[in-house]
Amino acid sequence: MSLIANLYPLMKPWLFRMDAERAHEWTTRMMRISHSLGLLTVGQEKIAVRPVECLGLKFPNVLGLAAGMDKSASAVEAWSALGFGFVEVGTLTPRPQPGNPKPRLFRLPEHEALINRMGFNNPGIHSAVKRLRNRRTSAVVGVNIGKNFDTPNEGAVNDYLLGLKAAYPVADYIAVNISSPNTKGLRDLQAEDSIRSLLGALKTEQARLASEHGKTKPVLVKIAPDLEESQIEALARVFNELAVDGVIATNTTINRAAVVGHPLENEAGGLSGAPVTQRSTEVIRAFRSLLNPRPPIIGVGGILSGQQAADKLQAGAQLVQVYSGLVYRGPGLVQDILQKVG
Ligand SMILES: Cc1cc2nc3c(=O)[nH]c(=O)nc-3n(C[C@H](O)[C@H](O)[C@H](O)COP(=O)(O)O)c2cc1C
Repeated sequence: MSLIANLYPLMKPWLFRMDAERAHEWTTRMMRISHSLGLLTVGQEKIAVRPVECLGLKFPNVLGLAAGMDKSASAVEAWSALGFGFVEVGTLTPRPQPGNPKPRLFRLPEHEALINRMGFNNPGIHSAVKRLRNRRTSAVVGVNIGKNFDTPNEGAVNDYLLGLKAAYPVADYIAVNISSPNTKGLRDLQAEDSIRSLLGALKTEQARLASEHGKTKPVLVKIAPDLEESQIEALARVFNELAVDGVIATNTTINRAAVVGHPLENEAGGLSGAPVTQRSTEVIRAFRSLLNPRPPIIGVGGILSGQQAADKLQAGAQLVQVYSGLVYRGPGLVQDILQKVG
C-alpha cells in the first residue's frame, strides 16, 4: 500500500472529529501539497491496469472520481496521481455561487454514508475552464454542468448551453447534471418532455461545436436513483431517440429507508455511500437493458470495495466512479478497486 493509503486510517479519527466540510477542504489542500512534493505515489504498488476505450476516449483505467469532490478543478493532477483514470469536476454553473448555508454536509458513520445539501457551491464555469486549460495529466477530465440556483427551470436550457459551450474546448466529456436534489426543481428536468427539449438543444449545440472545433465531445446525462420504473422507461426512450452519448447512474438519493432512526435521518439533502449501493446498481441494470444502441454507462453510488465496483460493471457499466467510499476507506480504496477491476 502507498504511504498515503497507510496514513489515512491513522488520520481518519482526527478528521472525523472535524466538521465534515472542513475535513474535506483540509484533505484536498493536503492532497495538493503532497502531490507537489511527490508524496502521493510513494510506496504505490504498480498495478497492471487495463486502459479502456470508451466514449471515443482512451481511459487509463475504469475508475473515476465522481462529481462534487473537486468542484473547482483545483486538484486534477493529484487525483490522477492517486490512481484515478478519470476525474469529473463540478458541478459548475454559469455564475459563481456560494451554495446553501452551512452546515450542509453530514457523516453517518454507522451507515458509511453522507448526507449533503451543498447546493452547487462553485467558482463558476469560467474559472474552472481557465484552470483546466493549463492541466497536465493523462487522466480523462469530464466537466459536470448545472444551472444556477436562481435560474428558473424555464430558462435552464440557457445555463446548460452556456456550460456546454464554455466547457467544450477543455473537457474530454461533458456531464449534464439534472439529478441533484439540492437545487430546487432541478430533478423535474428529468420529466420526459423537459429532458427531450433540454437534451435536444444540447445535441444541436454539440453538433455545432463539433464542427467549430473539429472534434465531437461526448455529452452524458447524470440521473437520480429515485426514479420509478415508468420514469426510467421514459428517460431511456428519450436517450435512445436523441442518441445520448452516455449515462451516469446515479446521483445521491432522497430516500431515507436505509437510515431510519439515525439522528441525522431528517437532514435535508442527498444520501450517498453504502445506503445507495444496491439501488444504483439496479438503475444501471435497468438502463443497460433499455438503452439501444448501447451507449456507455458510468456506474456510481455506494462503491466501497473492489467487489462493489465489479458488481456495477457486471450490471452493465463500462466505467465506475467513487465519492463517499473515499471518505470512509481513504486512498486505499483506489488501489483495492484497481486491483479487482483495473
Ligand atoms: C458532498 C457531495 C457533493 C456532491 N456534489 C455533486 C455535484 O456537485 N454534482 C454531481 O453531479 N454529483 C454530486 N455528488 C454526487 C456524487 O457524484 C455521487 O453521484 C453520489 O455521491 C453517489 O456516489 P457515492 O455513494 O460514491 O458517493 C455529490 C456527493 C457528495 C457526497
